[in-house]
Amino acid sequence: MAIRNIRKIGDDILRKKCREVKEMTPKLQELIDDMYETMYEAMGVGLAAPQVGVLKRIVVIDVDGTPYTMINPRILESRDTQKGGEGCLSLPGKAGVVTRPNYVRAEAWNEKMERYEVEGTELLARAIAHEVEHLEGVLYVDHVEGELYDVEADEEDE
Ligand code: NI
Repeated sequence: MAIRNIRKIGDDILRKKCREVKEMTPKLQELIDDMYETMYEAMGVGLAAPQVGVLKRIVVIDVDGTPYTMINPRILESRDTQKGGEGCLSLPGKAGVVTRPNYVRAEAWNEKMERYEVEGTELLARAIAHEVEHLEGVLYVDHVEGELYDVEADEEDE
């Protein structure tokens, strides 16, 4: 495993649409392993493949010790709202207020390319919404309410 370089806002790759994953390969498995290592090292709770320069529909999320590898994720249902601070590993040291659904149900494929569903509320719902948007080239700053503010480096980022 290896820690990969996290692309920062302003890098064009963060604005591109990602491609579907058709099959798992050793190279993609290595990418996923590296994404977890990179996310944990950066104290993040989510990371999308374009953030490490790969335009594939893969995200990893871990908000509470339960890791979710989400390949080709799609939000099936979302409801209620939460308004709160949100950050991104591609914009370190900053956060902004974003309104997100407070409940999300999504489908994704795991590392064995088996379909599963995940339901999340609060931070998990926020993380899923945030990461799925990365795959479309959308960043949270696109719908931040008000100004970005400075945060401590060890706060949670997605
Ligand atoms: Ni992010």
